[in-house]
Amino acid sequence: MPRKTIVITGASDGIGAFAAHRLHEHGHRVVLVGRNPEKTRAVATALRAEFHVADFSELEQVRALAASLLENHPRIDVLANNAGGIFTPVRETTGDGFEMTFQVNYLAPFLLSHLLIDRLIDSRASIINTSSVANRLYGHVDLDNLNSERSYSANLAYGNAKLEQIMFTRELQKRLGSQGLAAAAFHPGIVRTNFSKSPGASMESIYGSKIFSKFLSSPAKGADTMVWLAEGKANIDWPSGEFFNRRKISRPNQQANDPLLSAALWEESKSLLSLA
Ligand SMILES: NC(=O)c1ccc[n+]([C@@H]2O[C@H](COP(=O)([O-])OP(=O)(O)OC[C@H]3O[C@@H](n4cnc5c(N)ncnc54)[C@H](OP(=O)(O)O)[C@@H]3O)[C@@H](O)[C@H]2O)c1
Repeated sequence: MPRKTIVITGASDGIGAFAAHRLHEHGHRVVLVGRNPEKTRAVATALRAEFHVADFSELEQVRALAASLLENHPRIDVLANNAGGIFTPVRETTGDGFEMTFQVNYLAPFLLSHLLIDRLIDSRASIINTSSVANRLYGHVDLDNLNSERSYSANLAYGNAKLEQIMFTRELQKRLGSQGLAAAAFHPGIVRTNFSKSPGASMESIYGSKIFSKFLSSPAKGADTMVWLAEGKANIDWPSGEFFNRRKISRPNQQANDPLLSAALWEESKSLLSLA
């Protein structure tokens, strides 16, 4: 299998860190992106891998990250937009003025992907978005309420952001598939990581419970679909533009099948980020 250059965000912990280990073992060059410098450095040291630190709640850090990735890598075969999480029952906004869940899970990876897009197209790359089954359970995208100003719950904001990632995946395929770019979104399972573990987090009663957490999947299982997508050949091993669960195409929220809504979300996201 040819060695690929694979950039993974959220690689300092959980699913992303496990996927980085596995892909490194398989001989790929992994480039790690984390938020916490110590945790990210520890994973990078174990793998002797390059690492970058960026907090996606500050878009300026995402722009700086894209600039250093472009400087260091003439070729990027895979961008795994994996960083994310669910936040507190109280709505928070970032310094950029966006609702936290929306920015960290969707808008920041949308920006990172756009800033890298020419390099990704030249590399005939795949963009892999870590979504969630929450897209179907809670998602309902309202273009007039992307920042959850009118109605906020942590689950709703998370479900929306994970649905927006799938709509982004669909739109990448539609707009850039003919130029050789591929995209996939996936649900990793209900996985025992730091996800929703912090006090007050919306699903703390499941993820933070010693009893329930025994029944959750291991990070190895959670990383399996990401590793399979990253190593596979798009449009041969897996079709581009789809949402996967356990290596199989899975049915997303029906809003993900509305091409006009996905196109409008793309345009609105570009406008919010002042992208040309
Ligand atoms: N665990 C599950 O059951 C589950 C289910 C469905 C989807 N997911 C999704 O899977 C992905 C990975 O989560 P996980 O389960 O592995 O959880 P995790 O152990 O909490 O890892 C989350 C990763 O995202 C990074 N991150 C969080 N906030 C960030 C921010 N503001 N800026 C930059 N990076 C940030 C973290 O960085 P630091 O550690 O450096 O702070 C960490 O590397 C997430 O997108 C999550 O929504 C998880």
